[in-house]
Amino acid sequence: MADNPPAAAVESRPAVPPIRVRRNVANLLANDPIITFYDKAIGAMKAKKLADPLSWRYQGAMHDYPPPASDFPVTADNPEPSDKSFWRQCQHNSWYFLPWHRMYIHHFEKIIMTHVAQLGGPSDWALPYWNYSASAAAALLPAPFRDTASNLYIPQRSANANAGTAFADSGDTDTTQCMGSTTFSAAAPSPSFGGPSTGFNHAGGTMGLLEATPHGSMHVAVGAYMASFRTAALDPIFWLHHCNIDRLWEAWLRLGNKNPPEWVNKTDNVSFRFHDFTGAVVSMKSSDVLDTKPLPLWYVYDDDPLVSTP
Ligand code: C2O
Repeated sequence: MADNPPAAAVESRPAVPPIRVRRNVANLLANDPIITFYDKAIGAMKAKKLADPLSWRYQGAMHDYPPPASDFPVTADNPEPSDKSFWRQCQHNSWYFLPWHRMYIHHFEKIIMTHVAQLGGPSDWALPYWNYSASAAAALLPAPFRDTASNLYIPQRSANANAGTAFADSGDTDTTQCMGSTTFSAAAPSPSFGGPSTGFNHAGGTMGLLEATPHGSMHVAVGAYMASFRTAALDPIFWLHHCNIDRLWEAWLRLGNKNPPEWVNKTDNVSFRFHDFTGAVVSMKSSDVLDTKPLPLWYVYDDDPLVSTP
């Protein structure tokens, strides 16, 4: 009897939300709540001012800034924030490419989830991923992103992408080169899966194999906003593209490959700052995001054996 905890203690434990599952967009209908509430939540974020850390434009600016003034005018009643130190932080040509983007999409996803909950959408909402490498059909721009009446549509994209016709070739979507590499990080200019070990690196230098293809090649193929650091995150497909890149990191580890020892042993102390879904400042290191399943990340992809094994 003494072994059983009192019932009240059990009931007072905080509820742990279900782990969120990032699904393949190819399996979602255009009227799936995952899609329709993504559209609505982007609308809610767009209604916020540039200086608000939870606004669509601020979140995009964290990747890089400024976007073209013609598309995104800064006006007297929509000024830049006084503190722009969170902006232009995206990590490229670096081993930080994968962990930084993992952190970035995680915090963005939680912001969207908060809107989805407020708008009455599914409590298990999570970003979908776009696996353009699966087939010629999967390489077309997913249909909901071609709906001109939605926030998911960007008119400036490659005309073929927006028309639902082929716009990327098999070289753009190829994953055999990156997935065939067995080293996360090698000194430049040697190729490696995740890129060379660097300090904070916004741009310039040797790219990791995954960052180059399919990551970079698909950015360029979609075109327009996606083709520039300054606007990439302002195309809603960016976030599905990066979920797919993040998923490929998980798939690469399942092949038996290993993350850099400096992250596993926590000897690399470079940290990156973000805003959480309340706007509060949070700081993360690569070693904090090596496993997606425990908190603070708490997500899996639907092709993870944890999810897909009956
Ligand atoms: Cu920071 Cu796909 O880019």
